Amino acid sequence: VAGLKAAVAAALTAVPGRGNAPRTLALVPTMGALHEGHATLIRHAREESDVVVVTIFVNELQFNDAQDYARYPRTLDADLRLLGGVGADIVFAPEASEVYPDGVPLVALRSGPLGEAFEGAARPGHFDGMLAVVAKLLHYGQPPLSLGLPVEYRAYFGQKDAQQVVLIRRMVKDLAYEVDIRSVPIVRNAQGLALSSRNAFLTGPEAKAALVLYEALSLIRRRAEKHEQLYLEDAVALVGLQPLVRLDYFELVDPDTLAPLAFNCQDTPFTGEGLLLLAAQVGAVRLIDNVPLGT
Ligand code: PAJ
Repeated sequence: VAGLKAAVAAALTAVPGRGNAPRTLALVPTMGALHEGHATLIRHAREESDVVVVTIFVNELQFNDAQDYARYPRTLDADLRLLGGVGADIVFAPEASEVYPDGVPLVALRSGPLGEAFEGAARPGHFDGMLAVVAKLLHYGQPPLSLGLPVEYRAYFGQKDAQQVVLIRRMVKDLAYEVDIRSVPIVRNAQGLALSSRNAFLTGPEAKAALVLYEALSLIRRRAEKHEQLYLEDAVALVGLQPLVRLDYFELVDPDTLAPLAFNCQDTPFTGEGLLLLAAQVGAVRLIDNVPLGT
């Protein structure tokens, strides 16, 4: 952490001044096994910021399943190559003993009801553990006050993990962090499957079957664009045609609060804004995906 802080201070100092405009510092937290989704996130940070810090840390606290943690892909050498290519300035890849020197923190954050819905229902404790590490990473990357330079601090997260972004925004507000949370749209493969480090565990037939998830989301989005009735049950039935895919939830929610929207199964034409959220089990892998409606 001391090394990270020194590197951030040095990098910010080296940025040429632009009159009164503040220097800008971006933090991009990841768990490694980097793919094009992460690369896109980092490119956004790169375009918008003077100094880009990427963190790589597989945070055991947010894994509710020990096996999932044990088999999570760890590909540091390839990750470092990718980071060189996208222009990250600083990489912070700490050991668990540095992030959690006393083991599991005694004083902890609770994600509350927002952390118990959707992914939280399927993965108890996941969001508390996620907030535990993000709260610390945001501190570690913070622009040092001793620099005496105005610095605008922002952190980047993918819309792929929509519930994660909502919770982090809420934590930043509730705990008065001085950081701007920026979210970046989902990156998909050519067929529409949302990129994820866990896709590596899908077999060929499973990866093909999983394409039905984006087809189901797209079906409803097309109806929303035409201001038709959404009939979510049609999308659920479409997914049901794939025996390899077991849907966990498929819901229309408020994009800011994730509160379920009343349109759900009613015969009302869609207006306004919403977020369609889903999760499904495909083979040994839990997949999540979402699309915004009305934006
Ligand atoms: P990880 O799954 O490695 O993801 C790191 C960041 O990349 C997250 O903000 C995630 O939403 C984003 N991301 C992943 N796949 C993406 C895709 N296909 N399109 C756009 N963005 C994508 O999310 C985590 O790690 C952890 O929970 C973390 C925030 C690092 C805390 O441990």
